[in-house]
Parts: sequence; C-alpha cells; structure tokens
Amino acid sequence: MLSIEKYQEEFVAYLEKYSTLKEPNNLYAPIQYILGLGGKRLRPVLTLMTAEIFNSDYRKALDAALSIEVFHNFSLVHDDIMDDAPLRRGQETVHEKWDINTGILSGDAMLIMAYQLFENYETNTFQSLAKLFSKTAIEVCEGQQYDVDFETRNDVTVLEYLKMIEYKTAVLVGAAMKMGAIVANASNNDQNSIYEFGRNLGIAFQLQDDYLDAFGDPKTFGKQVGGDIIENKKTYLYLKALEFSNEENQLKLKELFNSVLEDNDAKISTVKQIFNGSGASGATQEEIKNYTNKAFMVLESLDISEEKKTLLRDFGNALMNRNV
Ligand code: IPE
Ligand code: IPE
Ligand code: MG
Ligand code: MG
Ligand code: MG
Repeated sequence: MLSIEKYQEEFVAYLEKYSTLKEPNNLYAPIQYILGLGGKRLRPVLTLMTAEIFNSDYRKALDAALSIEVFHNFSLVHDDIMDDAPLRRGQETVHEKWDINTGILSGDAMLIMAYQLFENYETNTFQSLAKLFSKTAIEVCEGQQYDVDFETRNDVTVLEYLKMIEYKTAVLVGAAMKMGAIVANASNNDQNSIYEFGRNLGIAFQLQDDYLDAFGDPKTFGKQVGGDIIENKKTYLYLKALEFSNEENQLKLKELFNSVLEDNDAKISTVKQIFNGSGASGATQEEIKNYTNKAFMVLESLDISEEKKTLLRDFGNALMNRNV
C-alpha cells in the first residue's frame, strides 16, 4: 500500500495526461478548467486504495478513478448552476466564468467522458463498472432533485434529509470504493462491505460539508460561506435548530427560510447564531461522528490486514477533521 498523499500524486499525474484542449475550445476549456482547479481528490484516491486493499495494483484502477473524478466534477458544474454558486475551490464557477449554457454542455460532455473511460476495461469488468455507474448516477440525480425540492418545502424531516444526502453524495463515495474492488476482482461480499463503508463515510462527509458551508473559514473554504443559508437549504443544522429552538426562534428561522432577501449578511449571521445557540451545531458534530463510526464498524466484518484497516480509519478521521 502507498500513503494517501502518494495515491493522490499518482492520480493527479494521470489526470494531467488525460485532459488536453481540443476544439471547440468553448466546450473543452471549461472541462480543463474545472478538472485543473484541484480539490481534495478523495473519491479517486479511495478507488485506487480499495483496489490495493483487495490485492490488485492501483494502476489497474486509474481509469475507474478518473471516471469517478470526471463524473464528480461534472456534477459540481451542474450543481453550481442549480445552487447559484459564485465560487468553487477558491475560483469562479464555470457558469460565472463562461455562462450557463456553457456549463450545461461542458457538463454533459463530462458525463459522457466519464462513461467512456470504462471502455479501457475487458468485457466483464466493463459491464460491472458500467452497471454500478449507471445506478449511482441516477441516484445522484434523484438526490439533487430532492435537494432542490426541499428548498421550498417547510415539512422536510431528518429522515428525508438523510435519504437526500445519501443519494446526492454518499452513493458516489460507496461506488468509488466498490469500483476499486471490482477492478481487483474482489468477492461480492467484499464489494458490498466496502460499498457500505463508503456510503456511511459519505453521509458523514455531506453532514460535514453542510456544517462547513455555514461555519467554514471564508479564507480557506473555497466556496461562498453561507451559500446554503442564502438558498434556503434544509440541512441537518437547520432541521435540528428548528427542533431544538423555542417558538420565537422557530418562527424567525421559518420566516428567514421562506424569503429571498436583499441583505443576506444579516440573514446568515442571525441563522448561524440560532444554529449555535440551539445546540444544532453540536448535534451535527455528533452525527458526523456517528456515521464515521458506522463506517468503521463495517470494517470489522472485512477480512483484510490491520494495517489496511488503519489506513481506512485514518482516511475517515482526516475527513471528519477537515476544514475544506
Ligand atoms: C463537494 O465535494 C460536493 C459534495 C458532495 C459535498 P468535495 O468536497 O469532495 O469537492 P472537491 O472535489 O474536494 O472540491
Ligand atoms: C453537492 O452538494 C452534491 C453534488 C454535487 C451531487 P452541495 O451542493 O452541498 O455541494 P457543494 O457544497 O456545492 O460542494
Ligand atoms: Mg452546491
Ligand atoms: Mg447542491
Ligand atoms: Mg455543500
């Protein structure tokens, strides 16, 4: 096994060889731009790591890892349009730098490019990867639709929220790992266990993403802090704040989340005060730990070395303590 940093380096080197500019420039330049903006590269690293955990060479998993990262970046380009987000990884979003139509079409091309990368595998592996990819990609669309639907709903439950983040985010983390297991020809049992590990870690990851969206440091976060509050996103923070607040604050929250305002700064600061004062922030931190621990529990059932389990636990703990 290599270190997490080394997998990242190897992946980025492979990605750099892959992305070349072609004509029409206005289709490919945004693709090169978003893929070159960096990011944590956590999904492809998980694909490579998982391949080696199940005794394959990570190099065999590079195309699957690249497919996952291209798909992830496609979903970000479209997500930023849907969320009206100005910033991504500290730079202008694609639809701000170009325009919305460019974001739509370059995103579409990326989705197809992601699929195309499976052609580099032999028939059986291709079929398994493509099948998992299609199922996952449809679920991501479903999750994204729920996320948008919830913006204008006032009766979203925690259970519905958890389903929504499972679909929009967690299944892709699970799939990234399962693809590594597929390439390594791991048993069905192992494939399913590692998917469960990734799915639980993915739920923790999105809870943390929601937390950082409100409480991240604008200097390092790379996205617009408070973006979810501006967009009336029904996050775990929001749902718990409603649950824990007195009537006065419940009313205030509901009112703020049913309006489009001139002064978002005031809205953001009031809402953050309620998130903290109500105990919603603490409850979110607890839930992040819960789901990370659920992921770690799945490891118990896996027949892999202690050293490999430690690497996966280190990865999970690093995610939980991140600030980007
Ligand atoms: C952002 O994903 C979208 C979510 C599912 C929260 P990441 O936080 O992994 O984004 P990058 O790739 O590191 O920028
Ligand atoms: C994004 O969720 C999930 C997908 C892109 C599918 P968010 O909307 O929370 O992601 P960020 O915060 O913009 O990265
Ligand atoms: Mg977004
Ligand atoms: Mg979104
Ligand atoms: Mg977010």
